[in-house]
Amino acid sequence: MSDAAFDRSAPIPPSAQPARIAALVAAVRARTDLVPRIGLVLGSGLGDLANDVEDAVSIPFADLPGWPAATAPGHVGRLVLGRIAGVPVVVLQGRFHLYEGNSAGLAIQPVLLFRALGAELVILTNAAGGANPAYGAGTLMVISDHINLTGVSPLLGQNADEIGERFTDLTDVWAPAHRAALHAAGAAEGVPLEEGVYVALLGPNYETPAEVRMLRTLGADAVGMSTVIEAIAARWCGLEVCGVSLVTNPGAGYSGVPLSHEEVLEAGAAAGPKLARVIRRFIGGFAG
Ligand code: HPA
Repeated sequence: MSDAAFDRSAPIPPSAQPARIAALVAAVRARTDLVPRIGLVLGSGLGDLANDVEDAVSIPFADLPGWPAATAPGHVGRLVLGRIAGVPVVVLQGRFHLYEGNSAGLAIQPVLLFRALGAELVILTNAAGGANPAYGAGTLMVISDHINLTGVSPLLGQNADEIGERFTDLTDVWAPAHRAALHAAGAAEGVPLEEGVYVALLGPNYETPAEVRMLRTLGADAVGMSTVIEAIAARWCGLEVCGVSLVTNPGAGYSGVPLSHEEVLEAGAAAGPKLARVIRRFIGGFAG
């Protein structure tokens, strides 16, 4: 579908999701009958994990009804179904960010699709800045909780009761048992993992130093431009959630040097393989 004919910013209320997700399921089922147990969203620079998928069936976003091609630099837009460590998975390589002008309703469709395809758990990954001054480039942080400062909820508008409740509980979004399993996978791989709070802003500009100090005061350990609305939607539709941030740079103002997307991609490429090992081992725990 060409972007000219497609308004990625058009609001999609929850009540419009069931028909759209059904169309997406049909498009996927025309290509594969694999039922994933786990959905995986790959953040900036982490796309290589998609190459680990065995027996992969790969679907470009543009072939999926209602999905525009991914536009963010460093994001390839495709949905990959197959197996990692023997476990059936669906992997989103690239995601729909709010800062691209996507509606929140569009941004959560991958997660709703994962659920509709049969997944029980979603693993969300992202590149982030370090709001915790102890976090340098390459720090990997298991997400323990989040703060939504995007100013939007993907659940605005008439609810779809067949997908989830009107008022979604977010007490344990970031499931303690999965966090523990991620730490165990990190220890087994010899990869140190921190744990902390992820704050999402709209972007696409990076933060000012004053904003990073404010976020730190509010309890942030990492700051980024994705993930939280997906996590909210995942809980709404009944998926379990866990996630890891790859800190690609100290937050603005900490290091004295300007932030650049190249730096983000470089740090992602450097630390991405370590995170890939952790996630592969974590997923392997679901085998059998
Ligand atoms: N801020 C917000 N998002 C980011 C950053 C940052 O410093 N680094 C990578 N993604």
